[in-house]
Amino acid sequence: MTLADQFPPFGLRIHCGDLELVPITDDVIPGLVELALDGIHAPDAMPFYVPWSTAPREELGRNMAQFYWQGRATFSPAAWSLHLAVRHTGELVGCQDVSTRDFAVTRTAETGSWLASKHQSRGIGTRMRQTILAFAFDELGATEMTSGAFTDNPASLAVSRKVGYRPNGVERRQRRPGELAQVQRLIVGPDDFRRGEPITVTGIEAFRLFIGLDQSDR
Ligand SMILES: CC(C)(COP(=O)(O)OP(=O)(O)OC[C@H]1O[C@@H](n2cnc3c(N)ncnc32)[C@H](O)[C@@H]1OP(=O)(O)O)[C@@H](O)C(=O)NCCC(=O)NCCS
Repeated sequence: MTLADQFPPFGLRIHCGDLELVPITDDVIPGLVELALDGIHAPDAMPFYVPWSTAPREELGRNMAQFYWQGRATFSPAAWSLHLAVRHTGELVGCQDVSTRDFAVTRTAETGSWLASKHQSRGIGTRMRQTILAFAFDELGATEMTSGAFTDNPASLAVSRKVGYRPNGVERRQRRPGELAQVQRLIVGPDDFRRGEPITVTGIEAFRLFIGLDQSDR
């Protein structure tokens, strides 16, 4: 018996050309912490809703580990977050997440992602978003997918635009303490989605059952 037999998210693997999205098992966490410590964005920027990436160096790693463990511990069909590590030609480069509530009914989910700075601006972000969208639409039967980016995050907004999202309102948020920032909400459906290379998925049947879908939903 393997852990993936008990916790099917650990059995998922999504391939797209030389890109691979894999579950964040414990052995993957230190590599992600190293990438985050190397830097994800300029020190004065903050692309994330929760400003986790600027935690003191000695706290960042344990915060990340606890965040991934919390995602596993609270995973249920009613609300789940799937955190996947991204490998490019075998090298760990960043993370691609997808989160949702009551997916079997709502058929909508929100994505989020990051790449270590040294791996940005080479098209990987676009390809990993296309990969997770193809997974959501084709393998899970999503009807729409959402995303959001602060209006001062041109790279994320460019990725969304390139893969077919349309604007879905602007939200006012507190970013860092005392700082008002605007989030551009985005939405894409399967017909508007601009696909990349085809994906292949392993472990999908067990994962579908785990999130409350079954064969009749196919
Ligand atoms: C957002 C992110 C995942 C995108 O990944 P990436 O690999 O850098 O993106 P890509 O190379 O696929 O595409 C980036 C696009 O943004 C454009 N872009 C980047 N910086 C830009 C700028 N300052 N102004 C305008 N466009 C910009 C690029 O030109 C490119 O578009 P193009 O292919 O049409 O030329 C990555 O930059 C990242 O991790 N950023 C920090 C964390 C983050 O912002 N996460 C998302 C939170 S919503």
